[in-house]
Amino acid sequence: MSEVLTIRGLTKRFGGLVAVNGVDLRVEEKETVGIIGPNGSGKTTLFNLITGLFQPTAGQIVFMDRDVTSARPEQRVAAGMVRTFQLVSVFNSLRVWENLVLCVTRFDAAHSSIWKFMTSPATGGTIRDDCYGVLRLVGLEDKAGTMTSELSYGDKRLLEIAIALSLKPKLLLLDEPLSGLSDVEVVDILNLLRRIKRDVTIIIIEHKVSMIVDFVDRLCVMNEGRFVSEGEPSEVLRDPAVQKCYWGKEGTRGC
Ligand SMILES: Nc1ncnc2c1ncn2[C@@H]1O[C@H](COP(=O)(O)OP(=O)(O)O)[C@@H](O)[C@H]1O
Ligand SMILES: [Mg+2]
Repeated sequence: MSEVLTIRGLTKRFGGLVAVNGVDLRVEEKETVGIIGPNGSGKTTLFNLITGLFQPTAGQIVFMDRDVTSARPEQRVAAGMVRTFQLVSVFNSLRVWENLVLCVTRFDAAHSSIWKFMTSPATGGTIRDDCYGVLRLVGLEDKAGTMTSELSYGDKRLLEIAIALSLKPKLLLLDEPLSGLSDVEVVDILNLLRRIKRDVTIIIIEHKVSMIVDFVDRLCVMNEGRFVSEGEPSEVLRDPAVQKCYWGKEGTRGC
């Protein structure tokens, strides 16, 4: 297996606060890695560094054998690094299918300028077929023409993942994709993630550990900006250092 992502010594300071502190991480192709940790431990900041929203104070990010430490976010997306956000991020004023077409055309070489976008109808041909294919995959095909603002939060989350998938990611970063969802919606999203797991490398941040423990191949636990434990999920959860930082007191159960 080849390495999709390699992070070395990644650090981010905000004034006196070290939000991410010398993190090393290697992710293999088709691997699913979970990142858990208490609120404020640096998980989202780590994603913001990997995807280029923040510049690191120190460290290096290599994606698909290319040093992307200084690359702009959109360059990383074009290279196949795609993320979703902790608070669902979709275009509410567009119809469901328009969200997908907009994002795909933005990163499609044939439609990369306003002129090309205006002169090459996105509703014809391959892009439309690709977009409907992704909507079918996530189960939103029947809602393709619905205004996005009318969707439930769970469907918006499905749409956000659909947008990410329509960009044909080599690495998909999901920041708490299950947060704010009902039990039924959680099952829908997890079923979808299980379907795509075979085809794409995934890093998933999740607060509810029990939700992803059977889904991920490897678990990393973050506390105060550092990885304090990493490995096979059930072993990591038995690690006293994890129990101490995550559940407050060593040996505490009932997560
Ligand atoms: N843009 C920012 N400016 C200043 N501090 C930030 C910023 N983003 C995050 N932080 C701080 O970094 C720490 C880690 O936050 P975050 O990465 O959001 O944690 P998590 O996702 O694990 O809950 C927190 O103390 C937070 O207040
Ligand atoms: Mg967060």
